[in-house]
Amino acid sequence: MNEYDSDSLAQSLINDGFFPTSNLDKADLILINTCAVRAKPEQKAFSFLGRLAGKKKNRPGLVIGMVGCLAQMHGSSLLKRFPYLDFVIGPGEVGNILEVVKKAGPHHIKVVATSLCPAPHQPISCQGYFSKRVTGFISVMEGCDNFCSYCIVPYVRGREISRSPAEISAEAKDLVSQGVRDLTLLGQNVNSFRWEGEITGDFPSLLHELSGLNGLYRLRFTTSHPKDLSDNLIQCFRDIKELCPHIHLPFQAGSNRVLERMRRSYTREHYLELIRKLRAAGPDIAITSDVMVGFPGETDDDFELTLDLIKEVQFDSLFSFKYSDRKGTSAERMGEKVEDNKKAYRLNLLQGLQKEITLRKNKDLEGKRLEVLVEGVSKRGGQLTGRTASNKVVNFIGNNNQIGKLIPVKIYHSSPNSLQGEATTF
Ligand code: 5AD
Ligand code: SF4
Repeated sequence: MNEYDSDSLAQSLINDGFFPTSNLDKADLILINTCAVRAKPEQKAFSFLGRLAGKKKNRPGLVIGMVGCLAQMHGSSLLKRFPYLDFVIGPGEVGNILEVVKKAGPHHIKVVATSLCPAPHQPISCQGYFSKRVTGFISVMEGCDNFCSYCIVPYVRGREISRSPAEISAEAKDLVSQGVRDLTLLGQNVNSFRWEGEITGDFPSLLHELSGLNGLYRLRFTTSHPKDLSDNLIQCFRDIKELCPHIHLPFQAGSNRVLERMRRSYTREHYLELIRKLRAAGPDIAITSDVMVGFPGETDDDFELTLDLIKEVQFDSLFSFKYSDRKGTSAERMGEKVEDNKKAYRLNLLQGLQKEITLRKNKDLEGKRLEVLVEGVSKRGGQLTGRTASNKVVNFIGNNNQIGKLIPVKIYHSSPNSLQGEATTF
């Protein structure tokens, strides 16, 4: 979601005559797009902002803005805490970036733009911006109505609002015309996507509509909430050939007692039933998830249930976090906080377990031929990099003219984060 907002900001600015630079010392305008979901990204954003103080001192003409969820969360207090900051823009005001920059820019007028998303904005298309990208993202809805007890998102991104299918389709066509072949639809809870207008539709109908797009090879979505992952959506994995066999389905905790305190509205048993249905729809479907350790009141037994669920499901990979208090959430006010060293111990155990599972799953792919959509040159250079439909990263030696194409690759080596292969023929 943040990456999507960053692209949207960049496109608006480039269309208005700005040029991007990777050299901070050459920039006239620096925007820090932030995430407030956990304490760690918050600390990172503030320490980066702290380092900009010296740059502003050396070049008083430099304009600095903080964008996104942290800007929304802290609002005008940021301008007091960081006097060299020129403006703050919440996620609902990303579409107004040019007005804010024009107001704040030349005269250094402090601006606070933090009204919550009245309607999701339509990004300004900047032809050519995506021309070197094979993968793209489209936000289909903004905000969240779920109010999980630990989560800041409903407070900083507001309530759920879906975008119109016509707008989404137009944006998808635009991206595909620029070379995007793998499209991920974004929303905090895509299953709540609903549109009632000239046409009425839900998320499965949106997937069906977009899958027919000429030139689009792969379609993905994230995230789906287990409490309302519908049978209709699961059926899409059978019916839509462009829909990749991968789902990200956060479970957060394996104990029903903790799930209830998290206000997740599903049980461990329901989650496991969903996994069974997904694997019945597509036996090779890759399943990834988010999990937290050290939620207030989490006991050793609760944590064992989390490990147990991980062993039972055998996720392809997991994003795992230590619970951190977020200001204003109901979990922040709960007692029985878990000590940091206990959280760290649990996280370490959990990550060790998942690493073994991921390694074993990746090892099972050795010797197999997989279809890889080539995305570009690998970070280490000298090789191409791409992903399988199930979202595994594959590196192999090839030619640059293979970028953007589907190439069969035979896997000969695996590691926890990627696979190594050689281009072959089917
Ligand atoms: N502490 C730790 N992790 C959190 N997440 C959300 N809120 C918190 C929090 N307060 C995690 C959840 C979510 C992911 C995006 O971030 O696992 O799925
Ligand atoms: Fe946060 Fe829960 Fe909404 Fe996800 S579903 S964004 S965890 S409130």
